[in-house]
Amino acid sequence: MTSNAAVDQYAVIGFPVKHSRSPFIHSLFAQQTHQQLEYRRLEIAPEQLEEQVTRFFAEGGKGLNVTVPHKQAVINLLKRCSPRATFAGAVNTIIKLPDGTLLGDNTDGIGLLNDLRQNLHCDLRSKRILMLGAGGAARGVIAPLLEQAPKELLIANRTIERATQLVIEFKHLGPIKSASFDDIANMPFDLIINATSASLQGELPPLPSSIVTPHTLCYDMAYGKDDTVFTRWAKQHGALQAVQGWGMLVEQAAESFFLWRGVRPNTQPVLQALLKQS
Ligand code: ATR
Repeated sequence: MTSNAAVDQYAVIGFPVKHSRSPFIHSLFAQQTHQQLEYRRLEIAPEQLEEQVTRFFAEGGKGLNVTVPHKQAVINLLKRCSPRATFAGAVNTIIKLPDGTLLGDNTDGIGLLNDLRQNLHCDLRSKRILMLGAGGAARGVIAPLLEQAPKELLIANRTIERATQLVIEFKHLGPIKSASFDDIANMPFDLIINATSASLQGELPPLPSSIVTPHTLCYDMAYGKDDTVFTRWAKQHGALQAVQGWGMLVEQAAESFFLWRGVRPNTQPVLQALLKQS
């Protein structure tokens, strides 16, 4: 480890990970809150996950963020997981507790909620929400969305069986239903969240334009330098707002920082700095 062992060590692990903005975000949080820490990127191939994670903590590491493709696999290496990580079936934050136990948590859901509620002033109570996609990204945010008591959370997916499976798992938490993309025509929504990985390949699910009204907030969990295909589509169809997931990225990081350091950073200046840099 080529780091300053006197300073608390954190990292984001992924494969690849060189694109990650987490070191930038956490260094700004640390500066702002006067916390002494180092945060770096660690590229770990799947077959080296156990060895590298064990070594990071054996060498004194305090915490990790976990990104693709390790969010599910890392659970097997942890003694304990929070209820929200268990619901999500994925861990994006590992905390080394004072007794040395590694605790897995998931801050993606609260990150999305904080962006929607605090930054975008979107109250989800009694709202009709459409979630596009039924993979890991969708699963991670369903429970916190249902906690907000929406009127309905409809999960639409290319492979309907995956959406139906999520409904079976989460229906005890609130009004959740599944649909195919064909089923959702003429059903306007207050909030549409794109949790498919289609944006990453520059693709868009086959969406009927009738799901968007001038009151609809369209949110893409993906983010990029320019509009994603989904945010461009949303603007073309007259959505109230079309937002990329930069705010969720910063908010989930802020929650991880809070879990590690016990201090809550101010996310707004960090989000502005990130948008300027992107
Ligand atoms: P992640 O962890 O990013 O959610 P995932 O678990 O592989 O990744 O899930 C990807 C999601 O994006 C799925 O809902 C997938 O739909 P299928 O379940 O039908 O595969 C969806 N997806 C990916 N590419 C898509 C495309 N071009 N059109 C529509 N949906 C797409």
